[in-house]
Amino acid sequence: MGEKTDFNDLTARKILCIGAGYVGGPTMAVIAHQCPDCQVTVVDVNAERIAAWNSETLPVYEPGLDAVVRAARGRNLFFSTDIAGGIRANDIIFVSVNTPTKTFGAGAGMAADLQYWEKTAREILEYAESPKIVIEKSTLPVKTALAMERILNSRGGDVRFDVLSNPEFLAEGTAIRDLENPDRVLIGSRETGTGLAARHVLEEIYARWVPRERILTSNIWSAELSKLVSNAFLAQRISSINAVSALCEKTEANVTEVARAVGMDSRIGPKFLNASVGFGGSCFKKDILNLVYLCRAYGLDDVAAYWEGVVAINEYQKERFVLNMMAAMFNSLAGKRIALYGFAFKADTGDTRESPAIFVAERLLAERAEVVITDPQALSNARIWAQGLTDRGTGSLFETGAGPKIAFATDPVAAAAGCHALTVMTEWPLYRGLDYERIFRTMVQPAFVFDGRNILDHERLHAIGFNVYPIGRPPLTHF
Ligand code: NAD
Ligand code: UGA
Repeated sequence: MGEKTDFNDLTARKILCIGAGYVGGPTMAVIAHQCPDCQVTVVDVNAERIAAWNSETLPVYEPGLDAVVRAARGRNLFFSTDIAGGIRANDIIFVSVNTPTKTFGAGAGMAADLQYWEKTAREILEYAESPKIVIEKSTLPVKTALAMERILNSRGGDVRFDVLSNPEFLAEGTAIRDLENPDRVLIGSRETGTGLAARHVLEEIYARWVPRERILTSNIWSAELSKLVSNAFLAQRISSINAVSALCEKTEANVTEVARAVGMDSRIGPKFLNASVGFGGSCFKKDILNLVYLCRAYGLDDVAAYWEGVVAINEYQKERFVLNMMAAMFNSLAGKRIALYGFAFKADTGDTRESPAIFVAERLLAERAEVVITDPQALSNARIWAQGLTDRGTGSLFETGAGPKIAFATDPVAAAAGCHALTVMTEWPLYRGLDYERIFRTMVQPAFVFDGRNILDHERLHAIGFNVYPIGRPPLTHF
């Protein structure tokens, strides 16, 4: 490249991240940890969240995160609410604000809500006094960088902005491992002199700890689109195996055996073939719906319908799970007490966004069942969800005048006491090692187990006396 740019003059980097959420916090903590000569500041409009990042109790639970934050915080990692000051003082700006599904107006329920993203662009424009590299870290519709560039260049001033796309592929629960040892880092840029120079700056930051061959570069639109497509492919695998699980239940095939046989084809691979009650998390559904919306916007209705099917199967799987519970428990759940083992959308996180446990709990409450929720990390989010139900006065979920019948327990053994059924919603390993003989004795008989994650020893539970309903395998009952 060899081209001289303002950015080439910088040795120690001053990095800002706008958005201190699940992505912004851990990502910047790892950059600060790996690059002690860079100064990294993370800002957010949410003062409570920033205070938590500065405290002993971080706002995000992630294995390994505490140690990384503790090592860098106050040295070259700072959390602040001073967004304007942060923009002025730093030359590399990651934007990691939330991009949820739009809930209003055109595209409601499908398109990405870009208001937080656009607000950030306008703030950068307002406060920037020197050239900036602006990096899309949030997941965005392809072509968003164009809008970003148009906003940033709308003042026609002499401050130069280069926009890069550097989507994040970390998964919650393994965020630190994924960030320290990523499969790949993707950096998209405009293929102009300044675009390539900006890309080079970011490549050099990642190259401090990521092997060069895993740092991919591309044009900016490919980078934006690759993020949506990666999530769509991952979710598609889960919906594929979940669709197969329904057929297994009708045919006495075992979905775990089918997944093993299929996954041993090296062209297919074994990962992400665990049948479940359905996928959750803040991104799969929103990103696929965003992809569907984009396809429709470009007149690609058949392509849109193809990807929409991935979400439709997930909804089907969650509903099917509840209907199976109903059918097994003599077609009535009213007044029955059901323990939910896990409320997080996956293990090793306290995040409950789009958790299948929320869907199942609300459907059980609508059937007038009582639910007892236990989870090692997600009870505070579960309580917020329960409070939300009460505040909304969700009449259809419980009898008029009465509140929803929701209890919480930290101990899973205690949670099951007096219950008619227990159902595994999250694949926390601790649920494998519980004293199920003791649990069985404290439950109402006949006692049921619905394993929404296929993690328990079904034969052993059956031998203890439970009626066991796995996903995609014949039930083991005593009837
Ligand atoms: P989050 O909701 O946890 O965090 C976003 C933060 O941005 C919030 O703290 C919010 O207060 C802040 N914010 C919003 N507008 C702001 C503004 N104008 N100025 C300053 N701060 C502002 O979201 P997240 O889970 O971290 O996701 C962020 C983005 O990363 C999304 O686009 C998401 O799709 C993507 N992503 C998420 C994950 C994940 O595992 N959660 C993984 C990969 C990509
Ligand atoms: C997912 C992707 O894995 C990340 O690469 C991506 O960066 C992220 O979305 C994002 O864009 O937000 P995450 O949602 O954190 O990460 O977690 P996953 O491990 O992908 O699990 C998603 C859901 O699928 C969970 O509910 C999980 O339990 C479920 N799942 C996963 C299955 O039901 N079966 C499987 O085989 C795998």
